[in-house]
Amino acid sequence: RRLLGTAGAAGAAGLVAGGAAGAGIAAAAEDRPAALASVGAAHIPFEGAHQAGIVEPAQARGHLVAFDLAPGAGRGAAAALLRRWSDAVREMTRPGRPGTPAVYDDQVADDAGPSSLTVTFGFGRTFFARTGLTARLPEALAPLPDFPADALDPRRSNGDLWVQIGADDALVAFHALRVVQRAAAGTAAVRWQMNGFNRTPGATARPRTARNLMGQIDGTNNPKPSEPDFARTVFVPAAGSAASAAASAAGGGGTGTSPAWMAGGSYAVVRRIRMLLDSWDHLPVARQEKVIGRRKSDGAPLSGGTGTTPVDLERIGADGALAIAGDAHIRVAAAASNSGAAMLRRAFSFHDGIGTDGTPDAGLLFIAWQADPMRGFVPVQRKLDGADGLSRFLRHEASGLFAVPGGAGPGEYVGQSLLE
Ligand code: HEM
Repeated sequence: RRLLGTAGAAGAAGLVAGGAAGAGIAAAAEDRPAALASVGAAHIPFEGAHQAGIVEPAQARGHLVAFDLAPGAGRGAAAALLRRWSDAVREMTRPGRPGTPAVYDDQVADDAGPSSLTVTFGFGRTFFARTGLTARLPEALAPLPDFPADALDPRRSNGDLWVQIGADDALVAFHALRVVQRAAAGTAAVRWQMNGFNRTPGATARPRTARNLMGQIDGTNNPKPSEPDFARTVFVPAAGSAASAAASAAGGGGTGTSPAWMAGGSYAVVRRIRMLLDSWDHLPVARQEKVIGRRKSDGAPLSGGTGTTPVDLERIGADGALAIAGDAHIRVAAAASNSGAAMLRRAFSFHDGIGTDGTPDAGLLFIAWQADPMRGFVPVQRKLDGADGLSRFLRHEASGLFAVPGGAGPGEYVGQSLLE
């Protein structure tokens, strides 16, 4: 798998693949350009200890969709749905030429490879009461607290089931969305749906420089898979493991151990964050950089160095003031300012046209992954809500929290250990 945090390596692989595909250009002749063939061929396995779509770099296209179970659909119907969904995704993510899911085929993705398609499934808090499974509801799925600056639309928030779809081709992503929706017919209905995007692979020779719609390099100080506590930050440890004992001993405001069926899983916090781009664009670049604490051109921290230099929050600038201001986003959000709270951010940008006020309805579909939201998103957002210089340019408009179980093994479906 391509891993988030090793984007440099993934980028290099992408360029190599482009070269290799270049060699095949004669065979492909005028049929299709080489770069597209390399994007289409990229394959992320569906099966594994963790679900796909968490540690891999975010794809060029994303669809987030939440479902509510139909009246009368209980545990058996939900299990059958997760089985249908898992079988369809296994088929669509097959290396080489992906298969046609039995549940539905509109031919929209015909002629395309898997294009790094991932489909990730999660359960919302309300799922457990509807399926008679409240005894297995994770403590960590307690509703998120109200944050004073929130402007949430309940119709676009939460839901019984959540599906995250990502692919590096828009048609492959749309096809997967239709398959997921068609497979749910009669069992669950769409509650809300959001569309996002990121940079297209191959658009830049520097793939680490994923930029958001404010123009900032975003994701630099994410936990990296190479770091010793990466797995502990992002994934729920297996019950009884040393990591599980360490997590409960750590306490620190967390919710303790998760149920055994969540081993290898993660909790996703989803926020539709509108960027107030017209106000933001009026700020001179130097002010924009102060608000974040990093340079816009290359993402270097204002404490000095390059984009990869560690942040020095203590550094005093030539003017005698803190180089990274007291209300800079990276100071207020840093693990060091929040008793070590950390999460893996893996976002998609969104743009849903121009709003009635004439400004872009655009921003970030922010997705934070962590082993325990009480040791990740919640304490950090509590701090950001009041103290972050960036919050004046943002509006949190929708919110969800989902328990995303571990990955399926061969022949299994996602969520099987909860539902069987
Ligand atoms: C860092 C932008 C919302 C948590 C950053 C950085 C940027 C950024 C540009 C610096 C580069 C990096 O390390 O990734 C934004 C934008 C947001 C947003 C545009 C909203 C539209 C949030 C939210 C949270 C969050 C809601 C969590 C509750 C963090 C964390 C860091 C960070 C933990 C790393 C801080 C560090 O240790 O250096 N963000 N962010 N951000 N952000 Fe955000």
